[in-house]
Parts: sequence; structure tokens; C-alpha cells
Amino acid sequence: MTDFIAGLPKCELHLHIEGTLEPELKFALAERNSIELPYSSVEDIRAAYSFDDLPSFLKIYYEGMEVLRTEPDFYDLAMAYLRRAASQNVRYAEIFFDPQAHTSRGVPFDLVIRGLRRALLDAERRLGIRAQLIMCFLRDFQAEYAMATLLESLPYREWIVGVGLDSDEKGNPPVKFRAVYERARQEGYLLTMHCDVDQENSVEHIRQAVEEIGVDRIDHGVNALEDQALVETIRERGLGLTVCPISNGYVTDSTKADAIRRMLDLGLRVTVNSDDPAYFAGYVQENLTVLAEELSLTEEDLVQLERNAFEITWLPRHLKDAYLAELDAYAAR
Ligand code: HPA
Ligand code: ZN
Repeated sequence: MTDFIAGLPKCELHLHIEGTLEPELKFALAERNSIELPYSSVEDIRAAYSFDDLPSFLKIYYEGMEVLRTEPDFYDLAMAYLRRAASQNVRYAEIFFDPQAHTSRGVPFDLVIRGLRRALLDAERRLGIRAQLIMCFLRDFQAEYAMATLLESLPYREWIVGVGLDSDEKGNPPVKFRAVYERARQEGYLLTMHCDVDQENSVEHIRQAVEEIGVDRIDHGVNALEDQALVETIRERGLGLTVCPISNGYVTDSTKADAIRRMLDLGLRVTVNSDDPAYFAGYVQENLTVLAEELSLTEEDLVQLERNAFEITWLPRHLKDAYLAELDAYAAR
């Protein structure tokens, strides 16, 4: 099964680029930028990764970003991820970035996006992996700051396929960003947002995302299963769910594998993704492997998960079809 997963043409749709910052690169960037880290080794850094819920994870995630300062830093970050993804036969990725995590500490938006964009172009040319960017707003900041970030992104509109919403969900419901999402839609962005797992008011937040914001996709969204009407709406609209098993295992009580099994059985477009692989120790291949072991997935199940993923990508139809044909050819072998 490990070999089957390794060879499977894969798609990654829930991946925070800042969450791919491995300790080795963290050290290298700290040195480049003359930043003193409070750790003496890579093992030291990894040992400090202790979290058991979303807020405790986010604290370490934001601290880690301190070393990202210049355009080449963002280029190197994205290039390292794309190399790793290509080595796992990820054929296509939609990559989140958190501009406010950088602009809020004085790093210009322009430099962040230029570094990321340059890596995407180089990776496509050199490694044959395609990727697009999704700009996330930090939901624990004010809606006005999100709106200002949206406006700041407009000169780079062609480099960004859609917008998302992440960070601490507690007390920060989807409707807080209603006006931001309306404007994003007007500007032609596609819409997704995190509905993190087992949050306060999880089900109501998913309902808001679907019914009031009108999202095109849901990130996580596992708790939708608690509401039959919501499940029906998600299925009718063909909305995708980007679930992250290993991440779930860290910030909730389990990988939520059983929920993924139920979503598959209900015919929902559930997908398997890695979220913040440098922190949760698992890229998409490891996530599929963990899930396959927990659920005794068949090859057909694994192909279905990747079919769902390519189907819900924000690519034009002809490119989706090309990846789906690759997947079908692999499955037929
Ligand atoms: N949830 C919310 N915020 C995040 C996440 C996540 O899974 N990863 C990085 N920021
Ligand atoms: Zn996430």
C-alpha cells in the first residue's frame, strides 16, 4: 500500500506555506538575517513543538515566522515545499499564505508575494509541479485589517486564485468577515475558509460559511456531519472539504479517520491534506498512509480521495481533466 500511495498522482489543497518551515531552514534563515534563535539545535526546536489544541499550535506557528524577512526567504520557503511535494508525486497544490502574519510585523506584502510567486514559476518549469496561491485573512484580527489586506492584494489579483480565513476561530465567526468576502467575490476571487475541528459553535460556523458567506469550499469542516441538513446542502452543492488527519491528531482528540470514512460513504467530496507539515510531521503522503492504516483503505478509496481533490481544484476544466486522466491511468495499471 505504501508503494501504491507513493506512486499515486496527488493533489494538496490545504497547506499553509508558513507551516512548511522546517527547523533546518529556520536555522539557515535566522543566520542569513542575523536573528538569534532561543534554540541551539534542530532537535531543540522540534522538542519545543508541544501543542494540544489550536491556540497552543498557533503560538508556535507565529513565533516560527520571525525568521522570514526578505523576498529570497519566501522564495526559499516555497521552493523547499514544492521540491518536497514533487518528490511525493504531488502534481498540483493550492497553497495558503498569511500576509497579515508578515505585514503585522513590518514585512511588506509585495515582498512576500513576489518571493512565493517566483518559486511557483520556477517549480513549474523545473519540477513539473503546478501550484496556485490562496490568500488567508487572520480571523483574530479585525475585519477592517482583512479588508485593507484584500485591497492591498488587488494589484496582484492575477497571482492569487482565491481567499481563505484561518487562525483562532474562537469568537471569530465567518459572518465577522461578511463584507470582506462580498468584496473578494466581486473582485473575482474564489472563496474558502477554515471551519476548524471541534471548535465552539463549529456547526453554526459551517452553516454561516455555506449559507451566509456562500463559500466554494470548506477547510476542515468535519463537524458538518453533526447536522444532516448541512450535509445535504454540502452534497447538493458539491462543496469540497479539505481534511487534515495528522493535524487533527495534534489539535483535537483524534485524526477523525472515522468521520472521513463516513464522508466518503456519504459521497461528499472529502480530501486528505497536510495543513502544517513541518509542525505536524507529515506531508500528504504520510497523511494518506496514516489514514489508509487506520481505516484499512482500499486502492479504490485512495483513488477516490485524489479524484475528489482534483475535481474540487480551482483549475480550468481542461487541466482538471488532464490530472484526472493521469489518475485514471494510474488506477488502471
Ligand atoms: N487552522 C487555523 N489556523 C491555521 C491552521 C489551521 O489548521 N494552520 C495554520 N493556521
Ligand atoms: Zn489549516
